[in-house]
Amino acid sequence: MTSKKRIVSGMRPTGALHLGNLHGALKNWIDMQDRFDCFFFIADWHALTSDYENPAHIKEFSRKMMIDWLGAGLSPEKSTLFVQSHIKYHAELFLLLSMITPVPWLERNPTYKEQIAELQNKDLSTFGFLGYPILQAADIIIYKAEGVPVGIDQAPHIEITREIARRFNYFYGNVFPEPETILTESAKILGTDRRKMSKSYDNAIFISDSPDAIRKKVATMITDPQRKKRSDPGDPDVCNVFSFHQMYSPADMIAEVNQDCRRAAIGCVECKQKMAEHLITALSPIREKTEYYQERPDLVEDIITQGNKKAAAEAERTMKSVREALKI
Ligand code: TRP
Ligand code: SF4
Repeated sequence: MTSKKRIVSGMRPTGALHLGNLHGALKNWIDMQDRFDCFFFIADWHALTSDYENPAHIKEFSRKMMIDWLGAGLSPEKSTLFVQSHIKYHAELFLLLSMITPVPWLERNPTYKEQIAELQNKDLSTFGFLGYPILQAADIIIYKAEGVPVGIDQAPHIEITREIARRFNYFYGNVFPEPETILTESAKILGTDRRKMSKSYDNAIFISDSPDAIRKKVATMITDPQRKKRSDPGDPDVCNVFSFHQMYSPADMIAEVNQDCRRAAIGCVECKQKMAEHLITALSPIREKTEYYQERPDLVEDIITQGNKKAAAEAERTMKSVREALKI
């Protein structure tokens, strides 16, 4: 028995992970592995809640994401890494929780309203999309999680999870702990075009990009928009290339760029080249590890199978007590 606190979190399968993902959820998860009993899963059923019309890539994206997780440093020795749709118990618990969840709880969920308004090109008037927080609640409490590391955008869902767990316990007896939200901080990473880094904006640098791909992408990065000519002084404080220097370059180079940019002693082309090399160096252990797993599909398959097994054993145990509590 482990005395570490159990935490659970999931990620939708978006395929290759980019620097925004790395510095967002993933870094936090990697750092938590030693302190917590971690269950991390690929939320492939969740991908269907909004992309049910085109599921063609979900499987491939799930695999790719697992490889990037492993490459970035999630460890199957430390954590339980698995795929949601392989653990059918989530669906059973989702069904049972749906019996006790009042529809107004779902309708007033702020992310529900936001997404319906935002994703006008998708028909989200489905039961699955409305009920998404119930599925998320099932994902979490089926492992009796005590904490859920998520970004602020997911906080309302964890609140609903707590309410559902409380209601279940009230009706049927104390089965579930109410999980705490563990708010994870994330550096806001901008893409090459200065918008938020996102796969769908085509502005992302992926953690498995080759050195040449990184050099090419960095060369296209938008710098200080006011700096038109090489002879104009620049302002590193508004320059995304400089933000990257701050993350990846050694301190003396950061100081040098900071000074030289302001007096036009360095050009953006050179500045980007320097940054790109430090970024490449920083990412090289990750790239090597992702390549290692990329070349060993059987090993990845095996890691997923083992993770699924551990998750299923836990989920099964919980479902036994759930069925007993419900006398069903
Ligand atoms: N809804 C989360 C997202 O879109 C993913 C997710 C699914 C999740 N189930 C979860 C996160 C359980 C934390 C815990 O990012
Ligand atoms: Fe940005 Fe570097 Fe150009 Fe200055 S020199 S504007 S920090 S890219």
